[in-house]
Amino acid sequence: MGLTTVAALRELVSAVEQAVGPVRAPLGLVLGSGLGEIADEIEDARKVSYADLPHLAPSTVAGHSGQLVVGRWHKHEVIVLAGRVHAYEGHDFKQVSLPVRLLGALGIDALIVTNAAGAAHNRMAPGDLMVIRDHLNLTGGNPLVGENDDSLGRRFPDMTEAYDRHLRELCLEIAHRQGAPVHEGVYAGLLGPSYETPAEIHMLAALGADAVGMSTVPEVIVARHMGVRVLGLSCITNLGAGLGEGLLDHSHVKEVAGRATVRMINLLAGVVEALPELPLHRRVP
Ligand code: HPA
Repeated sequence: MGLTTVAALRELVSAVEQAVGPVRAPLGLVLGSGLGEIADEIEDARKVSYADLPHLAPSTVAGHSGQLVVGRWHKHEVIVLAGRVHAYEGHDFKQVSLPVRLLGALGIDALIVTNAAGAAHNRMAPGDLMVIRDHLNLTGGNPLVGENDDSLGRRFPDMTEAYDRHLRELCLEIAHRQGAPVHEGVYAGLLGPSYETPAEIHMLAALGADAVGMSTVPEVIVARHMGVRVLGLSCITNLGAGLGEGLLDHSHVKEVAGRATVRMINLLAGVVEALPELPLHRRVP
């Protein structure tokens, strides 16, 4: 991203609308590893690949396709990011969070982020879902470092309620109603790409983490910077290193995430269905 974020956003917004037509979607969705199937359920879907948009880095991780999909899902106009880029792919945190900036500029009021995560303790099991109550930013970076553009958000954004209380409560209630209860907990975001050592998992649990992963945190910081409300959902794909038997393996992570997809989709569908009509906040700077 050679340009300022604002200049890049202007070009991105116009490139997206040139590719898919006008976007008036107040709800954004970020789909993590193995969860891309939701993108196939979008009605009247209009798609553009990240590779065909300026400034966006194409995702290189298997299981992350890298497409922006606009359409209707459960009565709401949505913008879906199917596939994300991670800092461990070699991108800085501004680059990693640019797709979420784009959704903010296009006008979303609320963002639902999903990810695959390891459990930091054995009170959760592979296949479980967790509503993110809060996070620990242990990535070593922050997408807001550098000059602040006040047209995007304030210099020192509050993070007291990074994950919106009402959206969390709604999600827990829907899960209960569906007879598929979920956990609520703290997500520790690390840089990766190596998985943690058993000592690190032990440390994370002592710090108050329930789940650990390599995404989400920069996206949520940027969303909050823009005043976007956030709901975060983790699919627990494995016990953290040293908690279970055997070694950690990305193909296994993807497989478990894939198996939990139906439950994740049902839960997200229930939440989206229950949302009132959301306001659009066009923020093209
Ligand atoms: N650690 C970090 N990231 C992850 C894990 C894990 O155990 N599982 C899925 N993403």
